[in-house]
Amino acid sequence: MSGKLLLVHANELVTCRGQAPKTGTAMNDLGIIPDGAVAIASGRIIHTGSTNDVLRVVNERDYQVVDCSGKCVMPGFVDAHTHLVFGGYRAEEFSWRLKGATYMEIMQKGGGIVNTVRATRKASKGELKSLARRRLDSILSLGVTTIEAKSGYGLDLDTEIKQLEVMAELAAEHPVEIVPTFMGAHAVPPEYKGRTDEFIDFIIREVLPEVVRRGLAEFCDVFCEQGVFSIEQSRRLLTAALEYGLKPKLHADEIVQLGGAELAAELQAVSADHLLHASDEGIERLAARAVVAVLLPATAFSLREPYARGRYMIDRGVPVALATDLNPGSCFTASIPLVFALATLYMGMTPAEAVTALTLNAATAVGRAHVIGSIEPGKQADIIILEYPSHLFIPYHIGMNTVEQVIKKGEFVWRKQGCC
Ligand code: NIG
Ligand code: FE
Repeated sequence: MSGKLLLVHANELVTCRGQAPKTGTAMNDLGIIPDGAVAIASGRIIHTGSTNDVLRVVNERDYQVVDCSGKCVMPGFVDAHTHLVFGGYRAEEFSWRLKGATYMEIMQKGGGIVNTVRATRKASKGELKSLARRRLDSILSLGVTTIEAKSGYGLDLDTEIKQLEVMAELAAEHPVEIVPTFMGAHAVPPEYKGRTDEFIDFIIREVLPEVVRRGLAEFCDVFCEQGVFSIEQSRRLLTAALEYGLKPKLHADEIVQLGGAELAAELQAVSADHLLHASDEGIERLAARAVVAVLLPATAFSLREPYARGRYMIDRGVPVALATDLNPGSCFTASIPLVFALATLYMGMTPAEAVTALTLNAATAVGRAHVIGSIEPGKQADIIILEYPSHLFIPYHIGMNTVEQVIKKGEFVWRKQGCC
C-alpha cells in the first residue's frame, strides 16, 4: 500500500477540472463531485469520481484510506507571485506609509526596494535560506503547494545568483514547489543611479546569460513603472530574456497607467501582474492574447490603492489568477485567506472564481497547468483537505485558515495541530 492513498466521502470534491486557463463563466465551474473520492498512486492522481464509482474500480485494501466525510477536498493553492527570498525588514517604512507617505515617495528618497537590496547583499546564503524556509513553512500551512518566487533584491550578478540558488536549494528540501523567476530589473541600484539604460544593458549582457547558463530561472519579470523601468526598457529586457528561453512576466500598471498590460499582450507574456490601473484597451488585449492577469489584492489593501478590476476583467474574458505578492515592502503577507477575502468582498469575484484563480489559472501563470492546479487523473497529487464541508467556508471564515491537511505529490506534508 506504500504510496497509495484513497480519499473517500469528501462532502465536496472540488476538481477544478477543465481547459486551462479558465475564462468568463467557466471560472465558476469547479467540477464539484458530491461524496467524492480520489485515488492516488506514486504521487499522481489515478482516479476521481463519486466514492461509489471510485470504489468500483480500485481495490480498497491496496490503499491507505482516509475518510473525508464533512470535508472539502480541493487542489493545493498555487501562489503565482511572491518575492520569497530577501534579507532585512522595512517596518519603519510601513509606519511612514501609515502617516501618509506613498510607496513611490519612499522609493524616490532611497528607501523601498534598494533598502532590501542592501540587506540582501549583506546576508549570507545560509541566513537567506533559513529566513525563506520559515516563510515556506507558513506558506505550506495555508494550503499552498506551489509558489512562484522572484529574485530582484540583488541587482548585481552575485546576489541575484545567491537568491536564485537559495530558491533551488529550498525547492529540493521543502515540500512547497518553487518556480523561479529572474527579476534583475526590479529597481535601479545606487551604483547605476541616473543610468537606467546602462543598468538594463548590464542585466542583459552580464546577469541574464549567467542565470540561464546555470539553469536558475524559468521566467523573467520587470518592474515596468513610471520612474522605474519604461515600456521601452522593459520591452528590451524581456525580448532579450525570451531569446534566452525565459518567458516574460511583468509588474504592470501597478502605480500609474503606463501601458504595461498592452506590452504584456504584445510580448505574449505568460502573465501581467498587479494591473491596478490597466486601461480598457490593455484589458481587451490581455483577453485576446490569453495573458493571465495575476491580481494581488493584498498589495492594493496594504498600499491603500484601489483594487484591480477583477470583475471587469473576468467579464471581458481575461484569465484571472490571484496571488499574495509576499514581499518586505508593499505587502508583507503570505495569507491566502486574506487574498480570498479581499477578492470576494472587494473585487466582485465569486468564491468559485477565486478558487479557479488560486488553482488552475495560477498554475497557468507559472507554466504548470499540465501538471498541477486541478484534481484530474494524470496530474500530480497536490491536494488540500479543508476542515469544513465546502469551499464557501474559505471567504466566510474571513482571514482564517480553513485548511486541515496538505498533501504534496501524494504524501501528507502538513496537518493542523490537534487534527486527526
Ligand atoms: O510587487 N512593485 C514592485 N515589487 C513589489 C514590491 C517590492 C518591494 O517593495 O520590496 C511589488 O509590489
Ligand atoms: Fe511583486
